Amino acid sequence: MTTQTLTYAAPLLLDDPTLFIERAFVAGDWIAADHGATVSVTDPATGAVIGTVPACSADETRRAISAAETAQRAWRRLPVPRRCAVIEEWHRLIMANQTDLARIMTAEQGKPLAEAAGEIAYAATFVKWYAAEGLRVHGQEIASPFADRRILIRKEPVGVCAAITPWNFPAAMITRKAAPALAAGCAMVVKPSEMTPFTALALAVLGQRAGMPAGLLSVVTGLPAAIGPELTGNPAVRMLTFTGSTRVGAMLIQQCAGTVKKLGMELGGNAPFLVFDDADVERAVEGAMASKFRNAGQTCVCANRFLVQSGIHDAFVERFGAAVRALNVGAGTQEGITIGPLINDAARRKVADHVADALANGASIAAEAAAPEGFAAPVVLTGVTPAMRLCEEETFGPVAPVIRFETEEDAIALANATPYGLASYFYTQDMDRAWRVSEALEFGLVGLNTGAMAMECAPFGGMKQSGLGREGGAEGLEEFLETKAFHWAGLKTGL
Ligand code: SIN
Repeated sequence: MTTQTLTYAAPLLLDDPTLFIERAFVAGDWIAADHGATVSVTDPATGAVIGTVPACSADETRRAISAAETAQRAWRRLPVPRRCAVIEEWHRLIMANQTDLARIMTAEQGKPLAEAAGEIAYAATFVKWYAAEGLRVHGQEIASPFADRRILIRKEPVGVCAAITPWNFPAAMITRKAAPALAAGCAMVVKPSEMTPFTALALAVLGQRAGMPAGLLSVVTGLPAAIGPELTGNPAVRMLTFTGSTRVGAMLIQQCAGTVKKLGMELGGNAPFLVFDDADVERAVEGAMASKFRNAGQTCVCANRFLVQSGIHDAFVERFGAAVRALNVGAGTQEGITIGPLINDAARRKVADHVADALANGASIAAEAAAPEGFAAPVVLTGVTPAMRLCEEETFGPVAPVIRFETEEDAIALANATPYGLASYFYTQDMDRAWRVSEALEFGLVGLNTGAMAMECAPFGGMKQSGLGREGGAEGLEEFLETKAFHWAGLKTGL
């Protein structure tokens, strides 16, 4: 998808207006909330309300869970190729409606249209990949220690799953969970962020058109406090999968303890980006731009701390600064914009506070892009020290703090000095160092000479307080499967 094929005038002027739905999708029906309440959804670039969705409560959520139980019983019995054909058709429809889905996403999330179209394509890769991977769920026979016994290992779907998904990737964080769940034979109730429900609802429209049976994939819209406790407390939900902050993840883990659910937790990060003296500086800058400024810095894998060795520090900062100054900040609907708005006022305040704290403690601005009023300006800060707030907390914005280091040991110690362990990046051309550093970094994702690692075919997830489990790849399907051991004893096998 190139920017030329997109219409930049009015994002909600859709080729297929039926994709924009101001209803929740519960048990195969498009519904209002029982008590009629709604939540407004605003365009983060303008603050204008683009629509409303039902403020569902525990009642609608319970109905969605109950319908999912019924749908899942039939879905798990469907021959696997037929299940996977429905998922494959969902993929086809997502890509056929890529432009409209991108327009909806930009309107509610803010990211530039071309980037939103890129996210739709990224989201679709999970659907396609799991439509194929679902065909490859295998059991096993174990060598039996007894002549009259056979031991078989079977993989079975976990059952009804609930997904609580974030606003930063309104499509991909749903498909990365729903596609493997459905391929495994599970049903899913999705609670999208109240800030970006329309992309989720459009995906549900396409799922329905692809032939998903009623109740298999529900989308319950509204506020977390009204919906979350039912998802975490209802015993029929066998697994909760969540992407969001470590604070909320820890709370959800506690809420799920009472019914001992399986958990998938993609939580916060504090990614280090290491540049060693022997790095290819152009390549490092390219990776830094990709890692730091994707989605205006609002990703849990984006570089939060740049650790740069003394010998390359000035050259890196100069080239990085030039690339940052060239960023084009503005409303995602306008042509040529590369950085959209932050999601809301709280996000803007956090970014401003982090920059102010760093400047007050001795950092300085090495480069800054121009930004219209109300948008966060991308900035490179130098003279940063590890004790500053922006090194200890995830900034979730377009701020690149640079810390100078001297030795490899110092860099590894600094990189690992965080309770988080999601993504890490490093640049070197020395293969011995490449191996040493890859082993030493305590992160679920380690990128050598690349600023991008998330993809459908590889496991994505964190160590330490960055989460539990993996999404993507064969591991991402395994999360939605239970292992059952059949012991058949007393067999007259003739052995
Ligand atoms: C996230 O930030 O939550 C996910 C990022 C990705 O999929 O690359």
